[in-house]
Amino acid sequence: MTSETLKKLLVEELRDLYDAEKQLVKATAKMAKAAKNPELKQAFQYHNEQTRGQVERLEQMFEVLGKKARGKSCKGTKGLVEEGQQVMEEEFEDEAYDLAIIGAGQRVEHYEIAAYNSARSMAVQLGMKEVAGLLQESLTEENQTEKLLTQLSKTLLKQTGLSRPAEAGESTKTTSGAGAKKQASRTVSRQDNSAHFTTDHDEIRQWAEERGGKPAYIRGSGGMGDIGMLRLDFPGFSGKGSLEPIDWATWFRKFDDEKLALLYQNKTSHGDKSNFNRLVSREMASGAFRA
Ligand SMILES: [Fe+2]
Repeated sequence: MTSETLKKLLVEELRDLYDAEKQLVKATAKMAKAAKNPELKQAFQYHNEQTRGQVERLEQMFEVLGKKARGKSCKGTKGLVEEGQQVMEEEFEDEAYDLAIIGAGQRVEHYEIAAYNSARSMAVQLGMKEVAGLLQESLTEENQTEKLLTQLSKTLLKQTGLSRPAEAGESTKTTSGAGAKKQASRTVSRQDNSAHFTTDHDEIRQWAEERGGKPAYIRGSGGMGDIGMLRLDFPGFSGKGSLEPIDWATWFRKFDDEKLALLYQNKTSHGDKSNFNRLVSREMASGAFRA
């Protein structure tokens, strides 16, 4: 095979992926809306942001290759999205509904991982380092999402209250307790636009203050003696007055009481400083640590 043929094949793969990601920007937004579990919702919201970055990353690749950014109808993704749509229309109980959505999301992730893997191998073979690097960035994000979804499905299955015998070779060790402290802060992948999880107070405060962020809570979300849901308030993002400022000590007390972790991003996929953050449970964060 000539390298010209392989390059043609790579461009075809990228066109397929370009169409797939564009379909998935819409699909992940719908899944985020449909998910009932708040962590699952956040996971889809986060992946929706990543997917937009992946579309732009593919446009960058077309530019490097001197090709017009143009998609080629990806029927595989179309089918998976349609199946996901059907799942969202079914009437399951909360956990079962979320598990069904995770199943649909996992199918998409595995499809994308396969596509990015093969495109990346072609780019490597062609010596196209920049394209291979960009494909690897998206591949890392897809793998990360796949692991997060796996972890969330495990958590949801546990919440069903149905016990099951431990599987052979399965470890019951978790990263909670003393182990979690050591791992208080870890990065899921090496790219600076990737997700970092932390429970470290200094790290959170520093990250927020570098962006002008202040500790706050959602007004009216609390109850008797409870201040309510925590948030970080950034200049220009005050949620139209729905956030009430509090001091860091109170914020961190609640943060620890509720066993929360902060998922944050340093830079957007364009390389700008990112304010993206979500408060998630430590259980979810430790799942991502294990991943
Ligand atoms: Fe994707």
